[in-house]
Order: sequence, then C-alpha cells, then structure tokens
Amino acid sequence: MARKTTIRNNDDGPDDRDETRFTEEADRRRAAEGVEAQERYDDELRPSRLEDVVGQRAVVERLRILLQATKKRNEPLGHLLFDGPPGLGKTTLASVIPKELGTELQITSGPSLSAPKDLLPYLTNASRGSVLFIDEIHRMPPTVEEFIYPAMEDFRVDITLGDGLNARTINMQLQPFTLIGATTRSGMLTAPLRDRFVNREHLDFYSLDDLADIITRNARKLRTEISPDAAMEIARRSRGTPRKANNWLRWTRDYADARADGRITNEVADAALRMKSVDDVGLEEQDRRYLETIISVFTGGPAGVQAIAHTMNIPADTLEDEVEPFLLREGFVQRTPRGRMITVKALQHLGRSLPAGRLTDSGLASSSESTPKTTKNQKELF
Ligand SMILES: Nc1ncnc2c1ncn2[C@@H]1O[C@H](COP(=O)(O)OP(=O)(O)OP(=O)(O)O)[C@@H](O)[C@H]1O
Ligand SMILES: [Mg+2]
Repeated sequence: MARKTTIRNNDDGPDDRDETRFTEEADRRRAAEGVEAQERYDDELRPSRLEDVVGQRAVVERLRILLQATKKRNEPLGHLLFDGPPGLGKTTLASVIPKELGTELQITSGPSLSAPKDLLPYLTNASRGSVLFIDEIHRMPPTVEEFIYPAMEDFRVDITLGDGLNARTINMQLQPFTLIGATTRSGMLTAPLRDRFVNREHLDFYSLDDLADIITRNARKLRTEISPDAAMEIARRSRGTPRKANNWLRWTRDYADARADGRITNEVADAALRMKSVDDVGLEEQDRRYLETIISVFTGGPAGVQAIAHTMNIPADTLEDEVEPFLLREGFVQRTPRGRMITVKALQHLGRSLPAGRLTDSGLASSSESTPKTTKNQKELF
C-alpha cells in the first residue's frame, strides 16, 4: 500500500494560515504530539474490513452497494465525502474502502496542502482506481481547491509555467482515481467542491448498543475481561463516540489492572470514570465548564460561540467541533439565530437555576423578560 504521506507528517511544518488555532509554537507542538498519540491509539483498534465496522448501518449498506458495483464494472469508485463530528469513523471508513477494493491509498490533509504544488505529487502518483484521502478537506486553501476541480471532474490538471507573456498552461492527464474527503464541518465546504463529490455520507452519533458492541470487541483485542454491564456503563458515558469509548476502555483497563484484579466490572468502570470526572451521561470537565459559562456569565444565553470561547480561553473551533455537537444532540444547549442558550434539561442535570423568568418551559429564553443590563453586556461581547 502506498502510504507515502500519513496525516501525522502533516504536522511537521508550521501552519501559519490558521493563526486562531494555535498561536504559540509550544502549544502547537504539544497539540501535534497529542494528535499523534491519539492516531497511534486509533490505528491499533481501527477495524480493517467493512464487516468489522459496527453501527452506521445505512451508510455501510450504501457503501457495500457502491463497492460491489465498482468491482463488477471495474471502474473507479465515484468521489466520496464523509462528514460528521470527530471520532465517529470517517478515517476508519476511508481506510477500509481501498482495502475492500484491493487498491492503493494515499493520505494527506487540507492544512498540509498550502499550494497546488503540494497536491500535485499525490495526483500524479495516483494509480488507476486508487484512493486519495484528504482529511480536514474544509481547510484546503482556495488555490488548491481550484486546482483539484479539473482533477476530480476530468482527471486532468492544468499547470501554468512561467508568467506574464511567457506563461503557458500545460494540461496533464491523470489516471482515474477516487478522492475521499473527510470533514467535521461540511458547512464550511464551498458548493462547487461539495457538488463534485457524487457520494456524500453523514456519520451520526452511535447508539448505546453499538458502542457496547465496539467496547466488547476491543476488550477482546486488548485481551481484557469485561462484563456486559460494564461495557454498557462505558458506552453510556462515551458521548455516542467510538473514539471516546475506546479511550475510556483503555483507561478502565489500566484502572482495573492497578486497583483491581484486571477484570473490568461495573464497579471498576464507574470508579475509573468518576476519577476522570466523567459524569453519568458522559459530560466531562470541559462540557460542564461550557454550560456553566453560559449559565453564570451569560445568564443562560443567548451567547455567541466566539464570546463563550473567549471567556473560556479556548479556540471557538474546539467548542464547535468537539464540545457542542453532543450537547446539542442531547438537548443540553440550543442553537438559536441569536446564539447558544442553556436548556432546562442542562439546568436540571447540573442542579442549577437561573433568575426567575429567564427560561420558558421549552428552554427558550423569553426575550421580553431578559434583563436589559445583561443583554447590553452580551452584545458588547459578540
Ligand atoms: N464504526 C466503527 N466500528 C468500530 N470502531 C470504530 C468505528 N468508528 C470508529 N471506530 C473507532 O474509533 C476510532 C476513531 O475513529 P476515526 O479515526 O475513524 O474517527 P474520525 O471520524 O476520522 O475522527 P476525526 O474527525 O477526529 O478525524 C477508530 O480508531 C476506531 O477504533
Ligand atoms: Mg479522522
């Protein structure tokens, strides 16, 4: 398999196009190390065949049809886009597909493609029917995006040599290949790029049964004994996300080895996760801080995500990618045109309350009753 560039390599060079994310070099390096460690973890437990992929049944079923048709006709698979929150299996599915087709896979990511010349080697190296996987495709700069259009549509690249009067454009024919894109923000993709993906699949959070199944299978891979109720307990606290489930499985396994007899029982799982401050619905320190910020600083909202991020001193991207999707899905927070709002469910879960009249039963603020002073302060922060 031609894995010339892995996602890991993409963290080598400074990424000065996204200054908001990590301004400090040390922060960047620490973050890169964190990503690298997570990827190593992910790779160990990543399913390698479609039959080992748990859940996402409708998506998997459609992929099976695409793969069968592709093999039957001996044609390259149409370009494919996966979108959904982090840790739900985009990279997993993208790496399973070339294995099922018996073709090569090249991997790169949007932030590492700063100019068309960075993308060119991948395109020219792509063999017939092979897969080029671009992770975080929404972070590709516009020049690269325009360069990729003819490659996706006509398997051709237009290269301009020289400039001014001497400029010449050379058309270079490519082998028909499949582009698989992954994004946590499909909303940030331009319409022309999105439209060039003939197949688009959205990955959603997993059911408890599917997560418990993943945990049980992976415990077997890690040669650890786990009781069914412990698998369910970890599933309940994994925010519908297989990556979280795997990380908690590893942690409870360490805890079981250090504090018990190595078997993960319900009590062991509960004690281990309590030690990590994971509550009974899977909320962690950062989730609670987010909710507490909306409650205490913005008196329940509405509050813009930038304002919340500034107050919490973390990048707004992190909130939007990692914190909000699950809280929104579970109804702990609502997104309104005026900003994020806390819900009754969140207040009940945290055992908190707001000043009388701030919330209606549905969880939406009754705008006429919001205190004028707070509203003014909030406006200043947006
Ligand atoms: N359907 C699944 N069945 C079994 N395990 C899964 C499944 N989906 C994901 N996993 C596990 O979760 C881990 C994380 O998944 P993956 O790396 O594919 O997420 P991702 O969507 O690419 O996340 P990111 O947006 O952060 O790149 C994988 O290593 C794998 O072990
Ligand atoms: Mg990924």
